[in-house]
Amino acid sequence: MSTPVDGYLRHIMTLCATDRAGAVADYIPELTRVDPDGYGLSLCMHDGHLYSHGDSAAQFTIQSISKALTYALVLTRLGPREVDAKIGVEPSGEAFNEISVDGARRPKNPMINAGAIMSASLLLPQVRDDDSATLDSESLEVRTVDTVFDDLVSFYSACAGRRLHIDDAVYRSERRTGARNRAIAYMLDSFGVLDADPEAALDLYLRQCSLRVTTDDLAVIGCTLATGGVNPRTGRQIVSPEVAQRVLSVMTTCGMYDGAGDWVSSVGLPAKSGVGGGILAILPGQLGIGVYSPRLDAHGNSVRGIDTCRHLSTDLGLHMF
Ligand code: DON
Repeated sequence: MSTPVDGYLRHIMTLCATDRAGAVADYIPELTRVDPDGYGLSLCMHDGHLYSHGDSAAQFTIQSISKALTYALVLTRLGPREVDAKIGVEPSGEAFNEISVDGARRPKNPMINAGAIMSASLLLPQVRDDDSATLDSESLEVRTVDTVFDDLVSFYSACAGRRLHIDDAVYRSERRTGARNRAIAYMLDSFGVLDADPEAALDLYLRQCSLRVTTDDLAVIGCTLATGGVNPRTGRQIVSPEVAQRVLSVMTTCGMYDGAGDWVSSVGLPAKSGVGGGILAILPGQLGIGVYSPRLDAHGNSVRGIDTCRHLSTDLGLHMF
């Protein structure tokens, strides 16, 4: 049944679809294979109702949106004190792939690559200097990452309410062209702050970025965080309210990178973007929004995705402040 909300969502998509500005990410070659005109929008309400429009069933890779989920997972596993000792919560004001660390050489926040590689590392076995036996064979390292990745996929899947899968072609493409991320992992290692094997941390990070999602998935994931950690469609408590609150706070200040100030001023919602073209935005207590359109601005954020969220925020009065 088509409701007035459906009519409104179709209307703003028609408005935003005329914007062909921006460019598909090409620094990961496999990402160029998408349809640049793809455009999907989903809203998941706190009662679990889903509004799905456009290419809402199209699968794309989650990319940096994963950073919010891995942060939630590592907070759940280790608790905030241990995580805060390793990763800050301050906006960096720099690009997502800068090696932004604070005076204690902690990555400035978990939403940039340095912080996300650190989050991934905290899920892996910690290697001490005197502990050469743990990861000294390549096959053991791969098996370790396999096990931790399975656990991570189960967690993401519980947030989405369906089993998610990796896009192998994107993962291989990221591994081939991941010099910058490899440099970040080794730089953190050289600072003495990375306690896991840098190759394993990098591999886990690249795998999580390569998980495929739809805008429906993003909306459900967003609503799970919006409603204190309960998936509104399965009824399962996935994270604690405290973890959900922390993740939303850091998404508000750091989720849109060096475009975060502009985003918070104009849209006023916690959000996270990915170079696959997805944006996840959240109205705490109420709803999750998933948008997909792969043409990106200079910060690596979806042009139409931002435009769509601006419309939703202004027209429906979603701005939190
Ligand atoms: O680290 C990378 O290069 C990617 N796998 C993810 C980056 C990303 O999505 C940045 N977001 N806008």
